[in-house]
Amino acid sequence: MTRTLITGGLVVTAAEEMLADVLIENGTVVALALPGRQQWAAERVFDATGKYVVPGGVDAHTHMELPFGATVASDTFETGTRAAAWGGTTTIVDFAVQPKGASLRSGLDAWHAKADGRCAIDYGLHMIMSDVNESTLREMPGLIGEGVTSFKLFMAYPGVFYSDDGQILRAMQQASETGALIMMHAENGPAIDVLVEQALARGERDPRYHGEVRKALLEAEATHRAIQLARVAGSPLYVVHVSAREALAELAAARDLGLPVFGETCPQYLFLSTDNLAEPDFEGAKYVCSTPLRPKDHQAALWRGLRTDDLQVVSTDHCPFCFKGQKELGRGDFSKIPNGLPGVENRMDLLHQAVVDGHLTRRRWIDIACAAPARMFGLYPRKGTLAPGADADVVIYDPDATHTLSAATHHMNVDYSAYEGRTVTGRVETVLSRGEVVLDRGHYLGRPGHGTFLPRSTCQYL
Ligand code: URP
Ligand code: ZN
Ligand code: ZN
Repeated sequence: MTRTLITGGLVVTAAEEMLADVLIENGTVVALALPGRQQWAAERVFDATGKYVVPGGVDAHTHMELPFGATVASDTFETGTRAAAWGGTTTIVDFAVQPKGASLRSGLDAWHAKADGRCAIDYGLHMIMSDVNESTLREMPGLIGEGVTSFKLFMAYPGVFYSDDGQILRAMQQASETGALIMMHAENGPAIDVLVEQALARGERDPRYHGEVRKALLEAEATHRAIQLARVAGSPLYVVHVSAREALAELAAARDLGLPVFGETCPQYLFLSTDNLAEPDFEGAKYVCSTPLRPKDHQAALWRGLRTDDLQVVSTDHCPFCFKGQKELGRGDFSKIPNGLPGVENRMDLLHQAVVDGHLTRRRWIDIACAAPARMFGLYPRKGTLAPGADADVVIYDPDATHTLSAATHHMNVDYSAYEGRTVTGRVETVLSRGEVVLDRGHYLGRPGHGTFLPRSTCQYL
């Protein structure tokens, strides 16, 4: 039996803050006690005096090795999960993709093959359905049985991932019968495609036009439509990467009616804006993602939504493409810039900065970054909290250390940082994954293959 003891830290969970010693046996948290009260013997002791002891982050929205247009997201499961660990995230839920015309099974098998034996931390999988039909609908219960309990549909990207309203309704009906959670990319794709064509015809080709054609109203309209379709089907709904305050208003109205509608936003929408998309010399391409960054004045609504629980989760939508050779594919045509931003390493720090800045309490930080995503996607209390019986995915976090985010020092396999030069207060000091030390005071001790696949139960908010 291996015993690890973490002494004297402030244990912060979504529910509590308490000074406590944490005892870990064989990869599991077994006890918490008043500091120094229990004389526990352990092979390894970490003194966390003056530090926070928090659950490892759960990032429920990543895209390692995602094929997008003519290219592929630059982090592999190996590099991406290593970077996640550096940033205090110990679980990711990535998106397996059903290639159009193929089965869900083949897409899921392909994703298992990419991830198996390569991850530094534990991982689960959602399924992107790019082809809703009789056959793929029939496959859904089987996947749920294997622990893939959430299915992403797209109202955007016609001809690629897009589902029409009839397909969406059918998938939602299947979800309502099976307990699956439908995750929605809510943007009106056909309308956006018209605006893209018109913008290009006018010679509007720079990255900033990506933000202009993907209008907030088209996010709000799709969000509204998705909610109504879910009501008709009697299914729950989780809207991913909410960026527009008008879309958030749709979620809030639905929740006020008591509907099982949930929402996620991402650090890029909280910290970045259309000002970044407008950076000169094609630099704005670094910030092209969908839904797009919005004008700064949307941020206050998102912070408020996080405080009022109209938004429950902050995930990264980590989908990195290098500036050189990948983002550059869209020079002269913003519609060819691969969509996505890196961030899996930065989320816990940026959200802690939000605590420092007064947007969130410490417990809400842990809720939106750890506990709520674990509950939303059927991983709680194994992940997302520190309590007897939980996996010992633990971060010792120094709330006073400062550091500067930069591509020169980050560990994501991408040649730029979306937060280049931003100094944040708070830093990961030590990371344990199921009791194994992955990171300690700047030394990476993890290994590919330590991370295992997590079969998930259905949404625990229902
Ligand atoms: O721009 C983004 N978000 N890229 C990743 C794919 C998606 O829609 O989540
Ligand atoms: Zn999406
Ligand atoms: Zn995504």
